Amino acid sequence: MNWQTRPRCDETAAWPLLKEHAQAFRSGVFDLRDAFAEDSQRFAHFSQDAPHVFVDFSKNLIDARAQALLLQLARECGFEAHRDAMLAGESVNTTEHRAAWHTLLRSSSLAQARGTRHDCLAEVEAAQSRMLDFADAVRTNAAITDVVNIGIGGSDLGPRMAVQALRTVGMTNGPRVHFVANGDGHEMAELLLRLSAAHTLFIVASKTFGTVETLLNAQAARDWFLAQGGKDLARHFVGVTCNATAARQFGISRIFGLWDWVGGRYSLWSAIGLPLAIAIGSSGFRAMLAGARAMDEHFATAPFESNLPLRLALLDLWQRDFLGFGSRCVTPYHHGLRRLPAYLQQLEMESNGKGVDAQGRTLPFPTSPVVWGEAGSNGQHAFFQMLHQGPDAVPVEFIAVRDPAHGRLEQHRALLANALAQARALMIGQKDDGGHRNFPGNRPSTFLVLDHVQPASLGALLALYEHRVFSSGSLWGINSFDQWGVELGKTLAGDLAPRLVSADSAGLDASTAGLLARLIS
Ligand code: F6P
Repeated sequence: MNWQTRPRCDETAAWPLLKEHAQAFRSGVFDLRDAFAEDSQRFAHFSQDAPHVFVDFSKNLIDARAQALLLQLARECGFEAHRDAMLAGESVNTTEHRAAWHTLLRSSSLAQARGTRHDCLAEVEAAQSRMLDFADAVRTNAAITDVVNIGIGGSDLGPRMAVQALRTVGMTNGPRVHFVANGDGHEMAELLLRLSAAHTLFIVASKTFGTVETLLNAQAARDWFLAQGGKDLARHFVGVTCNATAARQFGISRIFGLWDWVGGRYSLWSAIGLPLAIAIGSSGFRAMLAGARAMDEHFATAPFESNLPLRLALLDLWQRDFLGFGSRCVTPYHHGLRRLPAYLQQLEMESNGKGVDAQGRTLPFPTSPVVWGEAGSNGQHAFFQMLHQGPDAVPVEFIAVRDPAHGRLEQHRALLANALAQARALMIGQKDDGGHRNFPGNRPSTFLVLDHVQPASLGALLALYEHRVFSSGSLWGINSFDQWGVELGKTLAGDLAPRLVSADSAGLDASTAGLLARLIS
């Protein structure tokens, strides 16, 4: 089937059958407790192993017929052709006329096996080696004690989360690595108080080198550097960007490039990963690429019924479009993964938070849920009350890690017991006719297990999420690789910034005009 003319999920024969089948779930006829009692194999049927990641989704409101119909829907949608087109570097980002080929950054064999555009591979490998050699050189340069990554969105969230994850398990060394993203100057100002110009390396990470927040933070860093008497700006500022001209104009001469076919939120694997490479070294970075590659191969080759990213995407579609769940809570029971929900928010909501399909037709069904969350067990003492007893059921995604990096096994067992207990409590509930202690139960959750947090397993986990988001976007008929929805706000901010000086409110709505006056009075 041609991936460009393939049907959308609601144009398949499976779609109305799923609508009909979902009635039993929406009306509460399906009950997880009964489902487990009736099927001793339910855990085996609704769980899946993939490289570095095991997922149990048996505690979700799903049965064998729903699963079969969802797999049918994926086939009818020509999913395989679309997946293969993405992996082969075809122009699947149709509104921006470019590939979304982040898999090439971690793959040699896969790209070779799959065909086109091998020419890019040598270029990718050369750029990667140059970036990793530089990272290793920074790590052994005793004069550099601090590295500051200045970037936002995809130029921040992935590296920040990964550095934090691997730092927590003791896998980082070398200079201290910091991140500044916020357009609010307080983040940079607070950090600079602790730094010394002579010992700091700034990485200005911006694919476009046009993101206002990043440029303002970079200017703040440059002003501070010069005011501190910093010498040799070219040695203390490096750029990661597609826009070398703008970086040079800023005064940066050492530039690491990436390609337009690397989307911002998929760019951790490119030179945007430089702060991570500095933190874990080239061998750690290559191990992470290898973990992601293992997941890519699984995604490319596993049959639909045992293809983990696709199975999770089908569950997402089922929950969103048939069961009507509007949000998903992600709760990693690992301190290192505490920023994973923030990373996933961009990955999923910027990719699939869209109301039109790739052809620009208005979608008659909902797409990306609200993705939110917090590390366990912190969340238990904040929002789990609502998850257990609030009137809305919210699917919860638990992530647990078998082996801790600290030696306190008893404490780790207590953590795992909490994760298991929460998922179980959501499902089994508790009867209390008196009311306040009543837990309705039958609440859905998915449980991911990693053996440990290490570069390879983290790489596999992130690739799993990337492919899951691509898969649900593909079934919805969305282009998951553009983000036009962020543009209007940027344009309006450009119009408003000078008004904060001139106080000109002509043409503004009364609320914005009133707030403007209040802010500058
Ligand atoms: O928020 C929009 C966005 O374009 C993201 O997609 C991107 O990750 C981020 O801004 C940063 O962009 P850049 O790397 O070009 O500064």
